[in-house]
Amino acid sequence: MANKVLVISGTASPKDKSFSIALQNKFVEEYKKLNSDDEFIYLDLNDEKMAQITLSRDNMKDFFNQEDALNYIEQLKSVNKVIIASPMNNFAVSAMIKNYLDHILLANQTFSYKYSKKGDAKGLLDHLSVQVLTTQGAPIGWYPFGDHTNYLKGTWEFVGAKVNHPICFAGTKLEPVVSMDPNQAILQVESEIIKAAKSF
Ligand SMILES: Cc1cc2nc3c(=O)[nH]c(=O)nc-3n(C[C@H](O)[C@H](O)[C@H](O)COP(=O)(O)O)c2cc1C
Repeated sequence: MANKVLVISGTASPKDKSFSIALQNKFVEEYKKLNSDDEFIYLDLNDEKMAQITLSRDNMKDFFNQEDALNYIEQLKSVNKVIIASPMNNFAVSAMIKNYLDHILLANQTFSYKYSKKGDAKGLLDHLSVQVLTTQGAPIGWYPFGDHTNYLKGTWEFVGAKVNHPICFAGTKLEPVVSMDPNQAILQVESEIIKAAKSF
């Protein structure tokens, strides 16, 4: 059966200079070799008004409206796979990714406390498989307090999704990677990408 795959990206870097876009493109390329009939929907958060809106006291009442929140939740319910790519920005996911998640993490829509035991939430997006793809300037381990990769994994698991082994392409601000074309640089993790694409 063909899958419907939502491909979410949220970097402010120019497309041709972005390591997370290069990682995402390479992953999709490898995945397509194994799943040629699948349908892909691309969501670049730079182009989505909701991803520019940060929750504040002034907009709290209207934040989860149809256009900015419910339509995107519907979109998640209409697909069965999500590929999400985020760079590390100041030890976290990018603000656009955070704004996206703030809109779709809505009680009784994507998670519920109603039927849970011991205060655990029940994820309502348990039809989803998710592939987390991240980049960061520093090598793994320099800033243990900033783990955007694990944050994304845990957040999608919270809404019930099955999360494939995440790929983090780290050390992009160091030589030689920083001087390389992102599409070339990403080949350093090619075998990891191929392995993840097979199990997704
Ligand atoms: C505003 C901003 C903040 C960043 N903060 C961090 C950071 O806290 N830690 C880190 O390791 N790299 C940081 N970086 C580097 C990026 O994570 C790195 O360049 C990554 O490859 C960017 O992916 P992209 O090319 O898809 O945007 C930052 C980059 C920018 C533009």
